[in-house]
Amino acid sequence: MESPRNSGSVIGVFDSGFGGLNILKEIVHRLPRYDYLYLGDTARTPYGTRSQEVIYKFTEQAIDFLFQKGCELVILACNTASSEALRKIQQDHLREFYHDKKVLGVIIPAVEEAMERTKNNRLGVMATEGTVSSGAFVREIQKRRKEAMVFQAACPLLVPIVESGEDSPEIVLPVLRKYLAPLLEENIDTLILGCTHYGLLEEQIRSVAGEKVSLIAEGRVVAEKLADYLLRHPEVERKLSLAGGAEFFTTDLTDRFQTLGGKFFGRPISPRKAEL
Ligand code: DGL
Repeated sequence: MESPRNSGSVIGVFDSGFGGLNILKEIVHRLPRYDYLYLGDTARTPYGTRSQEVIYKFTEQAIDFLFQKGCELVILACNTASSEALRKIQQDHLREFYHDKKVLGVIIPAVEEAMERTKNNRLGVMATEGTVSSGAFVREIQKRRKEAMVFQAACPLLVPIVESGEDSPEIVLPVLRKYLAPLLEENIDTLILGCTHYGLLEEQIRSVAGEKVSLIAEGRVVAEKLADYLLRHPEVERKLSLAGGAEFFTTDLTDRFQTLGGKFFGRPISPRKAEL
């Protein structure tokens, strides 16, 4: 039978590139009834090494694109955009142009989960240079628990490693050992994988961090928090269409987006070109 809501709005998911497809995969798995629109800014990725000003400008353009395409709610799957642009988007851009729309990020869901899991209040964060230098994870953790200690590692080699497919243990494990050693020395009991791409390295990260460290992989956490958000916000939920579809846009339409994107999403995708 046709859904009475098949003409409603969709959920937008934005990332600087392919990585957010890994987050979208978990969201679709958890919430398969809704319709999704993914935008990856592959023409301008990576964001992780850019200035706050540029990240904000790119993110604002992406949000405009997704709202113009009929999104009701946008998830910034990109940690760098969530850290460097989300607050200003919510405070300025939405207030001025889209007061009835919502934009949510991935930092707070990951932090809330981490606070539930840590026993010793010593937490690690692995992320891009941009996310680390924004201090967003530290701020959100210490807002919730002042005495919590946060140890961060910027891991600039991991995104290129994942995107190049050069992720064999001989290449990945030494890099992970180098990045994680200072965090593990601090006796952390919880480690946030604070970048879209790191979920794909979860097993390798586990083998370096050891079983005693609880890993927060964002895909599952964000999907669960979104499900919870929609339950708590029926006024948003009832506007969403229920055809169970997904459309994919990229700012640079290449074969690579199709192949790598399919790997991140877990099944083949047919992307289209977006002009921001
Ligand atoms: N999507 C970015 C993040 O989660 C990683 C890739 C990039 O640097 O653009 O921080």
